[in-house]
Amino acid sequence: MTTAAVLTAAGSGTRLGRAVPKALVELDGVPLVVRAALGLALARCLELVVVTVPPHEVRGFQALFPGGVVPGTRLAARIVPGGATRQASVAAGLAALPGDVDVVLVHDAARCLAPAALVRSVEAAVRQGHRAVVPALPVTDTIKAVGPADSSGAEPVTATMDRGALRAVQTPQGFDRTLLEAAHAAGAARAADEAVAASDDAGLVEALGEPVWVVPGHERAMKITTPRDIALAHLLVADTAT
Ligand code: CTP
Ligand code: MG
Repeated sequence: MTTAAVLTAAGSGTRLGRAVPKALVELDGVPLVVRAALGLALARCLELVVVTVPPHEVRGFQALFPGGVVPGTRLAARIVPGGATRQASVAAGLAALPGDVDVVLVHDAARCLAPAALVRSVEAAVRQGHRAVVPALPVTDTIKAVGPADSSGAEPVTATMDRGALRAVQTPQGFDRTLLEAAHAAGAARAADEAVAASDDAGLVEALGEPVWVVPGHERAMKITTPRDIALAHLLVADTAT
């Protein structure tokens, strides 16, 4: 029985606003997708990483994984075309997994600094019997729910959340493969109905009524979304002590 990862890298990076897909953007000379794959490889608990990429960029991404491995490691890497949404990309990655894989980690290339220790802790929690596991951090902002804006654009507050009970969720998220496949099958049927896709795989498991478990996340597993995040990622790369 083996563990594999689906590394989602098929997004365009609209909010980052670069000319190339976000996963190809370099941080200190290393593309985000390669950095993310290295974090997975260094965890030493995976047999394979399936990378979902923009369909018109398959060859460009293949060139980043010479010999079909994560550079400098022995972890096998397979490049597959992703879909129009993150959910569809994960589904495409799942479809490319070999039969002996029983645990799947789903990771965003955009969270390229997630430490190997975090990958290991998520994988270990799944192996210990938690069939759906997400890393998450406590939130530091006060979070309020709002209603529809008035004519000036101001939104009325409808509730203030209990911050102590809130967590900001990261990746890699880990799953029993059978459960994740069932969650995606049900999610695909709903997405076709409602034209909405999930931004998070654990959400699809929750929709099945199955439990999802939280383990401690890590600040380096932050997602690179905007130019400000790239600046922060540069600081984190420079600070090897964290
Ligand atoms: N992703 C994917 N397939 C898609 C959309 C997103 O594999 N159709 C991946 C992205 O490559 C990223 C992760 O899902 O690693 C999280 O998505 P996000 O941060 O939203 O990245 P983008 O969709 O590329 O960015 P944006 O929404 O700003 O365009
Ligand atoms: Mg997106």
